[in-house]
Amino acid sequence: MTESELMARAMEMRAYSYAPYSQFAVGAALLCADGAVFTGCNVENASYGGAICAERTAAVKAVSAGHREDWLTLAIAGSCDEFCWPCGLCRQFLYEFAPGLIVLAGRGDGGFETARLSNLLPHGFGADTMGSSGPSGGAY
Ligand code: THU
Repeated sequence: MTESELMARAMEMRAYSYAPYSQFAVGAALLCADGAVFTGCNVENASYGGAICAERTAAVKAVSAGHREDWLTLAIAGSCDEFCWPCGLCRQFLYEFAPGLIVLAGRGDGGFETARLSNLLPHGFGADTMGSSGPSGGAY
């Protein structure tokens, strides 16, 4: 799948967005190494802090389907003239599973810019940072 095709999937997902508070529809599409694609949209809540971004919706769908180590590219489609880069919380959430993820930040018209997640979150905090307290060294 090409980057443009992945972005098209993200753009389609905006139709499913539940954004009655911000009116800002976002779609996302996450491509894995085996060709699987997990899509998502933002889902807001009357308790504003309960909103989840499109990127995390797609990420949680991937993890819950057994895909957590093979993420290649994430396309994000916003709804305005600006490129829709992931918020800080999403950068941290994505970094957990794929520091090297390629991120495509899309505009409403389908144009996009590309960056690597590790460049969007320099010196990111991850499992490695925790040394022996990380997932492989802990009791879990
Ligand atoms: N939002 C996303 O889904 N992804 C982003 O990258 C930025 C923001 C959502 C959250 C909220 O529903 C709305 O856009 C406005 O912030």
